[in-house]
Amino acid sequence: MKEQKATNVVWHDHKVEMVEREHLLKQKGVVLWFTGLSGSGKSTIANEVSYKLHKMGKLSYILDGDNIRHGLNKDLGFSPEDRKENIRRISEVASLFADAGFITITAFISPYRVDRDFCRGLVGEERFIEIYTKASLDTCEKRDPKGMYKKARAGIIKEFTGISAPYEEPLKPELVIDTDKESIEDSTDKAINKIKELGFFGYDSDET
Ligand code: ADX
Repeated sequence: MKEQKATNVVWHDHKVEMVEREHLLKQKGVVLWFTGLSGSGKSTIANEVSYKLHKMGKLSYILDGDNIRHGLNKDLGFSPEDRKENIRRISEVASLFADAGFITITAFISPYRVDRDFCRGLVGEERFIEIYTKASLDTCEKRDPKGMYKKARAGIIKEFTGISAPYEEPLKPELVIDTDKESIEDSTDKAINKIKELGFFGYDSDET
C-alpha cells in the first residue's frame, strides 16, 4: 500500500457531516461494488441500477473501469501492481462519494480479493456491498462485446483477465448475480432490493 509522503498535514473536521447530508438526501451513502470478468455484465447492470434509482428519486453515481482509465487512472496499465493501484484510487474515490451520501456504484473487474477487501475496510463493512456478476468465461468470451477476448486469445492483448491473468472469485459477496441465467431486469431489481432491505433508502423516520 502507498505510504503517506506528506507529513505536515492535519485532518480537518467539517461542520456539515455525513449524517446531515444523509438527512438532506433522504438516503444513506453506500458503495455497490460490482466485480466480475470483462463481459460479465457489470457496467450494464450498474447502468440499469443507476437509471432505476434516478427514477425513484435516489442520487447515485457510477465509477466505471473503462471511463476512469481515460482520466484519473490513465497512467495505469494491467500489471498486477497497476490493477492494485487502480482499485486503491477507486476505493478512495468511492469512499468519498459514499461519505457525500451517494449510492456509489463501481464497475471494475477488480480481480484480486485483497484489493476488494481493502475497499471494504476503507468504506466500512456495513456500507460495502460486493456484487459478483457471475458468468462463465465461455459466456463472456461468446459475448465479447469489445472484441477483446479474441485479441487476448491471439496474444495481441497481454495479461487479459480470465485468459492470461487471474480472476479471484469473491468468497462471501453480499450478492451474486448469475448473468448466464438471470435477465438484466431481474438482476437490477435484485441489486436495488438489496440496498432497500439493508436500509439505505430513507433516513430513520423518513424511510420510504
Ligand atoms: S481492473 O482489473 O484493473 O479492475 P478495469 O475494470 O479497470 O480492470 O478495466 C477493465 C477493462 O479494460 C475491460 O473491460 C476491458 O475493456 C479493458 N482491458 C484492456 N486490457 C485489459 C486486460 N489486459 N485485462 C482486462 N481488461 C482489459
